[in-house]
Amino acid sequence: MKNSIKTVLSVFAFILAFFVVFIGASAYFCLLYRHKGTKASYRWSASDEFDISKIATVQKTGDTFTILNLADVQPCDLEDLKKLGVIHDEITYLIETVKPDLITLTGDQTWSNENLISLKCLIGWLESYKIPYAPVFGNHDYGNDGDSAVAGLDYCCDLYERAKYCLFDRGPNNIGTLGNYVVNVMEGDKVYTTLYMIDSGYAEYISDEQIEWMKWNAEGIRKFNGGEYVQAKCFMHLPIPEFNRAYYEYRLSGGRNFDNGVYVTFSLYGSEQNGFFDAAKAINVKDIVCGHQHGNNFTLDYQGVRLTFALKTGELNSYYEDDEVYLNGATTLTLSGGDTTVKSVFVDRERFHIN
Ligand SMILES: [Fe+2]
Repeated sequence: MKNSIKTVLSVFAFILAFFVVFIGASAYFCLLYRHKGTKASYRWSASDEFDISKIATVQKTGDTFTILNLADVQPCDLEDLKKLGVIHDEITYLIETVKPDLITLTGDQTWSNENLISLKCLIGWLESYKIPYAPVFGNHDYGNDGDSAVAGLDYCCDLYERAKYCLFDRGPNNIGTLGNYVVNVMEGDKVYTTLYMIDSGYAEYISDEQIEWMKWNAEGIRKFNGGEYVQAKCFMHLPIPEFNRAYYEYRLSGGRNFDNGVYVTFSLYGSEQNGFFDAAKAINVKDIVCGHQHGNNFTLDYQGVRLTFALKTGELNSYYEDDEVYLNGATTLTLSGGDTTVKSVFVDRERFHIN
């Protein structure tokens, strides 16, 4: 009898020890261990031969091509895990409502150093929709200290590059930060629209090398298509200073803070001026879409380029919430012919919000 009790206690102790070790190891690798990932090896030079086959493509098959942009989803593994369910529901609702051909994400997909669980969840959801998606990094994606997160910069690149439907490419390692890449929307065998996915950088500036790299791509694509520069769009996280200038022009012309679904609570914070806007204009960029601010969703024309603050997606951060408007949802860009229509898609506060 004593032996059988001993045996039961031993088995129980073994199972308990197994679960303690398993849970401890899981917590360590998900919340503490720094996953470093693979170092980028590709170095770009303006003298490199352009090869369009290295650029990711999405085919435009109908009369229109719809892009759904998700911005600043940013849960934190330690503080916001309870939000993941409602964020998943919101993204599913947006995708089922919009039925996009392509999903773009303008950065801050996660927030804080504890980012691994949230990022893996997000990638898992996006893979399940079987729609191509193209993310850029924000200033929080690989940790509040730059590259100190559980999923560091290189490891985030690994996760995105391994995902089947993700078009992300970490790009060259010598033009500033990582995550600069190009997506061509094709119509038949011609490039219909080029999307420049730009890393606005943890350092909050766009480098001269990034600009030269973008121009090099534009020239290569122009030659491939024959004729003029292909109409293009830029997606990045931090706004460039022209967003601020567009805002003041809007207000000086009589625009109000909340007009026709356009909400503006502008504060000047963004990447530094370095000629990016003029370079983009010169290669036929017609749209620049940024995230980051949560409190804006304006889309304003400035010198022939439409500047759009993407609407924040997924469980609002409280610091911009007010009783007047629930600034949450996504942004759509519907391409038809040579035109693009930009709209905010708002979601219901009660359905997609945790207090
Ligand atoms: Fe941000």
